[in-house]
Amino acid sequence: METVLSGIRSTGQLHLGNYFGALKNFIKMQHEARCFFFIADYHSLTTHPDPTILHGNVKSVLSEYLAAGLDPEVATIYIQSDVPEVTELSLLLSMHAYVGELERTASFKDKIRKQPQNVNAGLLCYPVLMAADILLHRADKVPVGKDQEQHLEMTRLYARRFNSFYGVDYFPESQPYNFGQELVKIPGLDGSGKMGKSEGNGVFLSDSDEAIRKKVMRAVTDSGPAAPGQPMSEPVRNLFTIMKAVSQPDTLEFFKGCYDRCEIRYGDMKKQLAEDIIAVVRPIRERIEAIQADDKYLHEVVTAGAEKARASARKTLAEVREIMGIHKF
Ligand code: TYM
Repeated sequence: METVLSGIRSTGQLHLGNYFGALKNFIKMQHEARCFFFIADYHSLTTHPDPTILHGNVKSVLSEYLAAGLDPEVATIYIQSDVPEVTELSLLLSMHAYVGELERTASFKDKIRKQPQNVNAGLLCYPVLMAADILLHRADKVPVGKDQEQHLEMTRLYARRFNSFYGVDYFPESQPYNFGQELVKIPGLDGSGKMGKSEGNGVFLSDSDEAIRKKVMRAVTDSGPAAPGQPMSEPVRNLFTIMKAVSQPDTLEFFKGCYDRCEIRYGDMKKQLAEDIIAVVRPIRERIEAIQADDKYLHEVVTAGAEKARASARKTLAEVREIMGIHKF
């Protein structure tokens, strides 16, 4: 049976990008494979080392994931720091990860631009810890958005390097996954770039209907197509990309047709888009509050998850230690 793993940093509320980039795929797959889902709280320390908010963030991300449809009866759901074996695997993999490669990673370059006052070694080694997350359970498939593609490439590089250095066929070549389709990048509503947690351009799974309508109606567009066949501007293309993710295919077709005939009214398109987003978000939002208030349930979910994840992790670590020549007296 295939192993599937996905994760998210605990640095804020979930948005549509997280949902369509990773979560929706994972939810579809959870009944068909050996599935692990975890919350990367160690990773979040590279950018958000604030002890007063860390736990609250983990709790809200966990509640939102459960509300969105992750099923702890079938998938193993755990918190990264509850499975400390991952830190040992990360250390062991780091012996075969070269500093030059890590310095060239796009996410590292991006982070040192954003937080020049805090270029910590955790940021540099972020891809190694992520590879450890994935290889800890020897995952075959990793549902992620397009922004994680390079991290997955590095995971495969480390797996291959480990296998060839030690002359084994141990780690799989984990593939980023989106049902055989292209990985998606959900854009933000501000006209450029991807939807993000801190970019102020996102629709969150906890947003009220009214907040969603307001955000979508304020989304950046342009002054309309001047003549048929002209290239679409980025802000408008972005709205169509979001529509492709949330709306029915015939809705998308309809507005594409209006655009192509230069008859589009962005106001109408946004109204429809807002309602289609609400149809996705509302049922999730309505479950979040109840789940978040149920500490006992959350405790049970992550305790059982940690136990299952640790059993899998211990097995991998024992085998990796053996392969690397770390033998017990
Ligand atoms: P994170 O927390 O930034 O995002 C979680 C998931 O959401 C996807 N995503 C998007 N997909 C499409 N469009 C967007 N605008 C968008 N924004 C976010 C991400 O691609 C991701 O799949 N490094 C990871 C967390 C992580 C991880 C792992 C993931 C740590 N270890 C092991 C998978 C496997 C991250 O920062 O994701």
